[in-house]
Amino acid sequence: MSVAKPDVGNVVFIGAGNMAEALVKGILGGGLCPRNAIGVTDVRPERREYFEKHFGVRALTANREAVRRADVVVLAVKPQAMAEVLGELRGAIPKTALVMTIAAGIPTTSLEDGLGEGTRVVRVMPNTPSLVQAGASALCGGRWATEPDLATAGALMASVGLVARVKEADMDAVTAVSGSGPAYVFFLAEVLLHAAEKMQLDAGTARDLTVATIEGAARLMKETGLPPAELRARVTSKGGTTEAALNVLREKGVFESFVEAVLAARRRAAELLKS
Ligand SMILES: NC(=O)c1ccc[n+]([C@@H]2O[C@H](COP(=O)([O-])OP(=O)(O)OC[C@H]3O[C@@H](n4cnc5c(N)ncnc54)[C@H](OP(=O)(O)O)[C@@H]3O)[C@@H](O)[C@H]2O)c1
Repeated sequence: MSVAKPDVGNVVFIGAGNMAEALVKGILGGGLCPRNAIGVTDVRPERREYFEKHFGVRALTANREAVRRADVVVLAVKPQAMAEVLGELRGAIPKTALVMTIAAGIPTTSLEDGLGEGTRVVRVMPNTPSLVQAGASALCGGRWATEPDLATAGALMASVGLVARVKEADMDAVTAVSGSGPAYVFFLAEVLLHAAEKMQLDAGTARDLTVATIEGAARLMKETGLPPAELRARVTSKGGTTEAALNVLREKGVFESFVEAVLAARRRAAELLKS
């Protein structure tokens, strides 16, 4: 059965960086809208040219002009550039448009205050695997966002991976779990590669085995739907090699340290919001 795709209309990206590139690729790949319905702006001419050449989308220079006929405006600049962008766009975005932000740590109220009363804002926290269409994003709506707005933002983000809807109060926890999450997995990969080197395993072989192991374990968890503790127990025979490894992790309190680390990320996300 084919699922009807929402008509997302004209989508304009403010900031044509890595994330915008992933999303444009996903939107075109998923057939969410035609090339000529996508516009991008960027302060860097080389990024505008790149988007025009690679994706055949419209590249524009003036942010205010670019959003005038937009149905969806995606704010895809770094958080540091957001205040300037909001100042530029204030009063230029049509009242009918949805404003989707993927900037880390900027609450919907800041955007509503910056762009004006009644602005329909959806805030998204994506993660870096979105760059290879394997992302995990969470989204929440602002005061004036409608259900169709959340559905549209959900469809756009689904073109680069999984999407979850959360309350805005949970965004800091999401940042700590899936936003920073890829870094924890890369950290584990570093550990395995470092240990492999100590055991004089060939570096290329170790990398291939590590990548396939992480990918395979994630797929096993997804496809079986089993809790990770159960899957771990299934690899851990009494007196075996895995048990020897896990005993060391237990003795050193690695589980507790990791939990503390994730909670520290959430605390930092909350602090950054206040600064
Ligand atoms: N990359 C990720 O995986 C990831 C994950 C989670 C969230 N995010 C969020 O996604 C957003 C975009 O990240 P990114 O990695 O794609 O950033 P990026 O590669 O730096 O792209 C942003 C682009 O916007 C340009 N820009 C700056 N000010 C502008 C303005 N006033 N008008 C138009 N363009 C402007 C930047 O130019 P300059 O470089 O010259 O400033 C840059 O080319 C960020 O807010 C980030 O927090 C990213």
